[in-house]
Amino acid sequence: MSPPYCISLADVKKAHSDIEDLIHVTPILTSSILNQLAGRKLFFKCELFQKTGSFKIRGALNAVRSLTSNTSGDGKKPKAVVTHSSGNHGQALSYAARLEGIPAYIAVPRTAPSCKKSAIRGYGATIVDCEPSDESRTAVAAAVVKQTEGTMVHPNQSPAVMAGHGTIALEILKQVPMMDALVVPIGGGGLISGIAITVKALRSEVKVYAAEPCKADDCFQSKLKGELTPNPSPPVTIADGLKSSIGPNTWPIIRDLVDKVFTVTEDEIKHATQLVWERMKLLIEPSAAVGVAAVLSEPFQKEVPATQDVCVVLSGGNVDLTSLRWLKQPECEEAQHPLK
Ligand SMILES: Cc1ncc(COP(=O)(O)O)c(C=O)c1O
Repeated sequence: MSPPYCISLADVKKAHSDIEDLIHVTPILTSSILNQLAGRKLFFKCELFQKTGSFKIRGALNAVRSLTSNTSGDGKKPKAVVTHSSGNHGQALSYAARLEGIPAYIAVPRTAPSCKKSAIRGYGATIVDCEPSDESRTAVAAAVVKQTEGTMVHPNQSPAVMAGHGTIALEILKQVPMMDALVVPIGGGGLISGIAITVKALRSEVKVYAAEPCKADDCFQSKLKGELTPNPSPPVTIADGLKSSIGPNTWPIIRDLVDKVFTVTEDEIKHATQLVWERMKLLIEPSAAVGVAAVLSEPFQKEVPATQDVCVVLSGGNVDLTSLRWLKQPECEEAQHPLK
């Protein structure tokens, strides 16, 4: 008998049939240059091309649809949906709520990239500012739930969200049937939990690896200590989607089904981001580059046999372009054309 996890393969399959009409089957791309650098075959699952620019729409849509179908008996929809999010889940929930005609309120850390905030507003949701700590996000969202009599849709601990994310694995198993391992960036662990439940139920021999910034390494620490060990203070990392700590629903799945956690430095994340932009022409965000950084890292090369075919989830592409310094600098003819 499998341990009591909060989701099962059946939940993921149901999520898939509930949301497949509204999401893209994102492509798998390859790159011979990245294969050379990694010394193995890599397959990139391009969730940056997903609706709202990240995988998050899968979980958000599944959560909103399960809320609306639960209340279909009396025809009543939830009064509102509420969440806290550094951006991608906020955008996704706003989009999903608008599709179902439900108001959405999103607690967003003041420090979140401005492109993510304006996208949330663009989908019609209301932003409520909070501090960039787990405590502040939770407290602000709880206050909004109270005020609006809304329903909380947690970005990574909601079982419906986790099951929705698992649908990525259903696609990957069809698209890359010979895959030996999957590398998944981890924040709160909703993405990897849905994927691990699915992969281990259907192809238990496929390894599932987490990729995490060294500066937000609560998953690595939790696995090391054998107990849930949240980040002690708000992490400071360029991978802004990976600042959340794993939680009580994702931890048991990660503890049992995630084979290993690879941590990467800020420099490795920046290098991997630039590499994918330049070589693959894919505008991934730094959080999505964390998996790429992991497969290129020395520990990965040492610990994972080079014969293995590895799929890397490129989880999102919501880059704050105005954060790139050169875009803000006034034009400097001399510097740009030194030979003129
Ligand atoms: C682009 C991106 N990748 C990965 C993650 C990690 O997902 P999770 O928090 O479910 O582990 C996030 C979370 O916000 C994200 O935005």
